[in-house]
Amino acid sequence: MKVIVTSNYEEMCAAAAQMILNQVRNKPNSKLGLATGGTACGVYDVIVREYTAHKVDFSNVKTVNLDEYMGVEPNNEISYAHYMKERLFDKVNLKPENTYVASGKNDVAEETKLFNDRLNEGGVIDLQLLGVGVNGHIGFNEPAEELVAGVHVVELSESTILANSRFFESIADVPHCSITMGVGDILKAKKIVLIASGKEKMQAITYLLMNDKVSTKVPVSLLKLHADATVIIDKELADAVGYVS
Ligand code: F6R
Repeated sequence: MKVIVTSNYEEMCAAAAQMILNQVRNKPNSKLGLATGGTACGVYDVIVREYTAHKVDFSNVKTVNLDEYMGVEPNNEISYAHYMKERLFDKVNLKPENTYVASGKNDVAEETKLFNDRLNEGGVIDLQLLGVGVNGHIGFNEPAEELVAGVHVVELSESTILANSRFFESIADVPHCSITMGVGDILKAKKIVLIASGKEKMQAITYLLMNDKVSTKVPVSLLKLHADATVIIDKELADAVGYVS
């Protein structure tokens, strides 16, 4: 695992965005795995700026998103489909048919098949962007005795519902279930870039960086099994976990 410490959130986002931009420049028909959440917002801002300055072309790029809330219409403002449209899809020249965010409204068996079809279509993901939950989840693979390798529907943990309630008017509005790539799907990506900033992620990042163990109870630790994973954290978080590069 390669670890990069940046001086702040903006630089962390710029570093992750550069890795994605380089991936697309080197392979214009790249398949990207995308994440939502607060941390990733700044990454998409940088990508959109580079696109607006004519420095990258997404016309042949394909994208697959990690997850979506169950029971939520794609055009609902709280959906990850809406997040992606607002932050990236409507702002660059990605073809709508080349993007995929699971529908949380469709029949689960049907949507799982569609999700798998998109994951398998045209080969594995070239670069997967990841955030990490306060409890160490990746995608919505929550800490558990056992993790699921493939696409599945998962009940969100109390910790995740609480963390995500900042995007909702009230905690009661946070959906309790999500459809997500499994850890096997994530680990199949050729390259993984994980971003994390701020002290809230301290526990998960301490387990990731400060020991040599892997646990399903800290799903992000599975990145230690990947041959090409880069972890980008800001100084505030690095200092909090005592990581020295
Ligand atoms: C989002 C996702 C989640 C988030 C994680 C961190 O698609 O898969 O794993 O990356 O919950 O979210 P933020 O960045 O809001 O702290």
